[in-house]
Amino acid sequence: MIRTRLTELLGLDVPVVQAGMSWVSSSSALPLAVSNAGGLGVVAAGPMRLPALERTLDEMATGTDRTWAVNLPLHRQDVGDVMDLLERRPPPVLVASQGGPKRYLDRFRALGTRCLHVVAGAEHARKAADAGVDGLVVVGAEAGGHPPPGLVTTMVLVRAVATEVPEVPVVASGGIADGAGLAAVLALGADGAQFGTRFLLSSEASVHPEYQAAVLAAGIDGTRTVGRGLGMIRAITNEFTERMTTLEEAGVDVEDRREVFHGATLRDAALHGDVRGGKVEAGQSAGLLHDLRPAAELVARIRAEYEAAVARLTQVAIGTPEAPGQAS
Ligand SMILES: Cc1cc2nc3c(=O)[nH]c(=O)nc-3n(C[C@H](O)[C@H](O)[C@H](O)COP(=O)(O)O)c2cc1C
Repeated sequence: MIRTRLTELLGLDVPVVQAGMSWVSSSSALPLAVSNAGGLGVVAAGPMRLPALERTLDEMATGTDRTWAVNLPLHRQDVGDVMDLLERRPPPVLVASQGGPKRYLDRFRALGTRCLHVVAGAEHARKAADAGVDGLVVVGAEAGGHPPPGLVTTMVLVRAVATEVPEVPVVASGGIADGAGLAAVLALGADGAQFGTRFLLSSEASVHPEYQAAVLAAGIDGTRTVGRGLGMIRAITNEFTERMTTLEEAGVDVEDRREVFHGATLRDAALHGDVRGGKVEAGQSAGLLHDLRPAAELVARIRAEYEAAVARLTQVAIGTPEAPGQAS
């Protein structure tokens, strides 16, 4: 057991959160595997139609007696309908992103659902905490998917939020590949770590094998942020990101970049394996990851790596440091 405010709040064995990832965790397979292994599995509702989401909620409810979550991007056009569905089948935890908490907080807390809110800055974190959320997910620049617009790194942003908003548990997200990363963010004052790209490379991730192969092949400098002003993403460098980068470096107006940006989709890459022209969203930690394993094995390994990292720090403290282990 690793005990933090997050594990206490949610009844987890380890402070390991599997990131909600559109398509990748938009079914029950990956979230069930992570929750049953003692972490927090998160269903990504973003791209799911209501009947598929309803089926998945039922599968989660019958597939585990551990804690699980639904990630809901609040910018979704039919967000009201999704909230009505979630109200009928309340998840133990809601992880809301891309919007403010007032819209859902009272409604879901009244159902007994714990509400975590995804934030991209310290000011946003303060507002969410004042509104009464149960916890914060703080996403730094290394992250796959949508990094914060100002590209402040996880190292700096987590430290800022943990010190400026100390009253709520913080889950650090972005660039965390293994148990050493978990130990690092707990040292910064976080209460848990969210892993996206790590679980994208798991057997249960519902994503095209070509997508996983592209992520496995990437080095630590193998991603780009593209789409400034359009909902910027971090993705594996490919024909699409190079085209966007060329337009951005040439100072092309946002309106003239819009078509190229929206012409490529995560769906094409994740479902159909278009890793050249699609959005192969992944974080910088892709370069630290070299294998694809069952999610339960990854949770157990993160725990073991965390213990090794803490043991190493203890040796540092008593003056007998050893070389660090590395992520797989
Ligand atoms: C393929 C992919 C899809 C994502 N989809 C979502 C999403 O639907 N909702 C959301 O809040 N974040 C989404 N994210 C961001 C993750 O929740 C998380 O913050 C990020 O992956 C953490 O960085 P890491 O990949 O370095 O671990 C996505 C990330 C990836 C890689």
